[in-house]
Amino acid sequence: MTDLAGFFRGKRVLVTGGLGFIGSNLAYRLVELGADVILVDSLIPTYGGNLFNVRGLEGRLRINIADVRDEHSMDYLVRGQDVIFSLAGQVSHLDSMKDPYTDLEINCRSQLSLLEACRKHNPGVKVVFASTRQIYGRPRYLPVDEAHPLDPTDINGANKMAGEWYHIVYYRAYGLATTCLRLTNTYGPRMRVRDARQTFLGWWLRLLIEGKPLRIYGDGQQLRDFNYVDDAVEALLLVAASHRANGEVFNLGGDEPISLLDLARLLIELEGHGEYEIVPFPEEQRVIDIGDYYADYTKLHLALGWCPTVSLRDGLTRTLAYYHEYHPHYW
Ligand SMILES: NC(=O)c1ccc[n+]([C@@H]2O[C@H](COP(=O)([O-])OP(=O)(O)OC[C@H]3O[C@@H](n4cnc5c(N)ncnc54)[C@H](O)[C@@H]3O)[C@@H](O)[C@H]2O)c1
Repeated sequence: MTDLAGFFRGKRVLVTGGLGFIGSNLAYRLVELGADVILVDSLIPTYGGNLFNVRGLEGRLRINIADVRDEHSMDYLVRGQDVIFSLAGQVSHLDSMKDPYTDLEINCRSQLSLLEACRKHNPGVKVVFASTRQIYGRPRYLPVDEAHPLDPTDINGANKMAGEWYHIVYYRAYGLATTCLRLTNTYGPRMRVRDARQTFLGWWLRLLIEGKPLRIYGDGQQLRDFNYVDDAVEALLLVAASHRANGEVFNLGGDEPISLLDLARLLIELEGHGEYEIVPFPEEQRVIDIGDYYADYTKLHLALGWCPTVSLRDGLTRTLAYYHEYHPHYW
């Protein structure tokens, strides 16, 4: 068992993308563990950052509104940190196709400049990068393990892939302590649900609460796995605290792969009412769709004992309750 409180107490920790969904959930845990936390976020209005996400943490951490594309700010901010969680990202797959250069700047170039800043000004820091299952593209076999070829279907996947590999190169060439986690669909309180650009699950939760039908593309048989955000946060903390994770790439994954149709039915059951409709794939979605996906997370389990602890049913129930209570801050 890793002693996370022992590791993080008093540690200086920077979280880029810290006002977003995963970053803010991570921030609560870090503060609870006694870390000295700075959140860096650009609060670009169409992205997931939201000050309400850190409600209750006022005075217990620092917030720096800065853009990771600004090399001068990042050069300064990385200094003196013990751990950096690199979570700032352009996360919409469709947006990456419509505006590939912004995706390139944020998901690729900024990751490189952050690593350069660390190499020059803080070579002893630990960096944990939030990569994505999207870099595998359409699975050739299931479950997908880390040996699966990388073959992204969209610009976001291609840029995240390069962003990830910069971290591995900086470990091998310069000994910088980096770890990459390939996250699967992560959900829970504080995710952006304003529109369908980010997570379809967040959008479905909103439609359900508003009494509108959930829209399923294709035949609804596509399989996906899901992690409740607390489980993803635990994995981020575990790899940050472990030297054995340095230079490694790990999948996260869920234990209950489910078709989108069954997921819609489960949500409707948990909400007590609702309906869904099945519609043809819009062309822009079809060309980047990855088909069925679920991950094999054995590598992380064997290395650090991680496995998901929150069932899909429990996680969705908690998430629905959160948005019923706080939707004015997210709609
Ligand atoms: N949520 C998922 O299912 C999932 C899956 C795979 C990978 N990831 C990765 O995890 C990370 C966090 O994702 P999330 O779901 O919390 O998304 P999110 O959009 O809620 O959080 C990302 C945060 O980064 C900030 N940001 C974006 N561009 C920035 C910039 N240029 N400078 C500073 N801040 C910037 C945004 O304002 C936002 O607060 C991302 O890198 C994403 O690619 C997430």
